[in-house]
Amino acid sequence: MYSLKEQEAIIARAICNLKFVKEPAGLYEPLEYMMSIGGKRLRPRLCLATYNLYSDNIGDNIISPALALEIFHNFTLLHDDIMDRADTRRGQLTVCKKWNDNVAILSGDVMCILAYKYLAACPAEKQPQVLELFTRMGAEVCEGQQYDMEFETQPIVTGDEYINMIGLKTAALLACSAKMGAVIAGAPADQAQALYDFGWQIGLAFQVSDDYLDTFGDQHIFGKKIGGDILAGKKTWLLVEALKRAGGESRQRLGAIMAMDNGRAGEKIAAMQQMYIELGVKKDAVKTIEDYHEKAMSCISGNGFTPEQLAILREFSESLIHRED
Ligand code: IPE
Ligand code: IPE
Ligand code: MG
Ligand code: MG
Ligand code: MG
Repeated sequence: MYSLKEQEAIIARAICNLKFVKEPAGLYEPLEYMMSIGGKRLRPRLCLATYNLYSDNIGDNIISPALALEIFHNFTLLHDDIMDRADTRRGQLTVCKKWNDNVAILSGDVMCILAYKYLAACPAEKQPQVLELFTRMGAEVCEGQQYDMEFETQPIVTGDEYINMIGLKTAALLACSAKMGAVIAGAPADQAQALYDFGWQIGLAFQVSDDYLDTFGDQHIFGKKIGGDILAGKKTWLLVEALKRAGGESRQRLGAIMAMDNGRAGEKIAAMQQMYIELGVKKDAVKTIEDYHEKAMSCISGNGFTPEQLAILREFSESLIHRED
């Protein structure tokens, strides 16, 4: 088995070797830009990690599908940044800002299609299952993104509705990544499913921490503008929880902050941060992230994984608990 560090290096090299630019450059340059400005490459790393639990034979059969996951992820980000009106990502301008919305739409579309090309390099006998897994995930991401937008104007979103939404928009892709590596390696079906559930729980933790960092992160490390979710009225874990907890005077204050004009962005963000601290929401977000990581581990216990396999999966999960980017 390779170490997670070695696996990360394998993925980094493979991404570095990708060549997209052809004619028309206006279509492919944004794609190359997006793939080259970094990111954590979490999804291909998770896919390679679960594959490597079963096989050391790392070739195009797994690298190419792992890259498909990253290309697909980047496609969702191109479109997400249009939807969220985001200016920065990975510490750089978003494609919709550096070019424009139409460029981000079409370059995103071609990325989605190219993802299928890379997926097709998986072993022929695995293709039906891999395609089914990937296509279901793709529809789920769209469903989650639709809920995310609808929730912006919905006055109250329950905890369950929130978890369903982030499960679809974020956890589905991590779950798919985890299962895909196992499926391609020929893992037993029950273990592949356990890895799917593991990835799903990591995904929930990951989105709660994304919500947390969007409000309390360090902009230079996180790479996105702090407070973007507050200004967009996103029903993040923090806001859903705050709306649940605030009563009387604090409920009124929360309502007033939400109604503040975005022309007073700095003031609005600071007031909301203060509110989250007062209501204990900031502190409990950190606890919730840890809880989902524990749940992720419980999904894979008792499924016949070896201690060595479990150790790698725990290391992967733990590396994300206190992430800052
Ligand atoms: C951002 O994902 C979108 C979410 C699901 C929160 P990442 O935080 O994995 O983005 P990069 O690829 O590392 O930039
Ligand atoms: C991420 O949600 C979900 C997808 C991109 C599918 P966010 O909108 O919170 O992601 P960031 O914060 O812009 O990366
Ligand atoms: Mg979004
Ligand atoms: Mg966004
Ligand atoms: Mg976010």
